[in-house]
Amino acid sequence: MNNKNPIIVANDLTIAYELHRERKKLVALQDISLEVAPGEFVVLVGPSGCGKTSFINAISGLVPKASGSVTVRGQEVTGPGPDRAMVFQDYALLPWRTVESNVRMPFEFQDLGISDDEKARRVKECLSLVDLTGFEKSFPYELSGGMKQRVGIARALITHPDILLADEPFAAIDAMTREAMQAEMERIVMETGQTCVFITHSIDEAILLGDRVVVISYRPGKVKEIVNVNFPRPRMSNSEVKTSKEYAQLRDHIWNLVKDEASQTNRGE
Ligand SMILES: Nc1ncnc2c1ncn2[C@@H]1O[C@H](COP(=O)(O)OP(=O)(O)OP(=O)(O)O)[C@@H](O)[C@H]1O
Ligand SMILES: [Mg+2]
Repeated sequence: MNNKNPIIVANDLTIAYELHRERKKLVALQDISLEVAPGEFVVLVGPSGCGKTSFINAISGLVPKASGSVTVRGQEVTGPGPDRAMVFQDYALLPWRTVESNVRMPFEFQDLGISDDEKARRVKECLSLVDLTGFEKSFPYELSGGMKQRVGIARALITHPDILLADEPFAAIDAMTREAMQAEMERIVMETGQTCVFITHSIDEAILLGDRVVVISYRPGKVKEIVNVNFPRPRMSNSEVKTSKEYAQLRDHIWNLVKDEASQTNRGE
């Protein structure tokens, strides 16, 4: 990529896990190099176990690297920070807390130096951004899957992070709600100008949301190919995108790349 000031830079990043029982290391990702520009939406696809979650965990500072580097705004990542927020696949809401109280959680872990009034304003703002105004006092069990995921997104947005890291956030959601959530995600990212690194197993989701789709190869994960997606935004509300010839070609291309890699997973180690 030609951008001079990328916000995230992974340089020959390798991540390995100690397998204590077997007394060996498992190399999950090997020599990954990737630059992400501010405001860019990058989607990671690849077979199960290729290291996608490991990669965004390294950006968020949740797993240590074995070698290479990952920097955010030029600073080596050494741990989590309010500039990077995660949206989890399984919502990760606390069931005994209300919507409002779940959304406020990041304030309890990070001192952002903001006043109580500002905190309250942000809770209101973020709930409105995900269309959940009026559900402040509801508990997670009273919400649908799509609503729970929107609480997870509101919680991720509360610190006004520059970077949103999303790990298959819509995997457990039905097809109709999923489309609505994709549109919501596109709108929010367009509105806030955030940089997003997003993992999915859906090629359609990858093409509809991504500026670039990074295909990761089977373990140890490496960048197999980076595919540019140039459809204008908003894409979700534009029915011409999905029915275009370019879309079908892109879909086939990415599908073949992923299929090649997925077949490796069945060949044993
Ligand atoms: N904490 C851990 N300890 C040991 N091995 C791990 C750990 N986390 C992940 N791994 C291994 O690293 C590899 C990559 O895992 P990762 O979760 O990053 O893959 P993924 O691409 O996100 O897969 P999926 O699509 O199934 O979510 C896998 O072989 C996994 O078993
Ligand atoms: Mg994963």
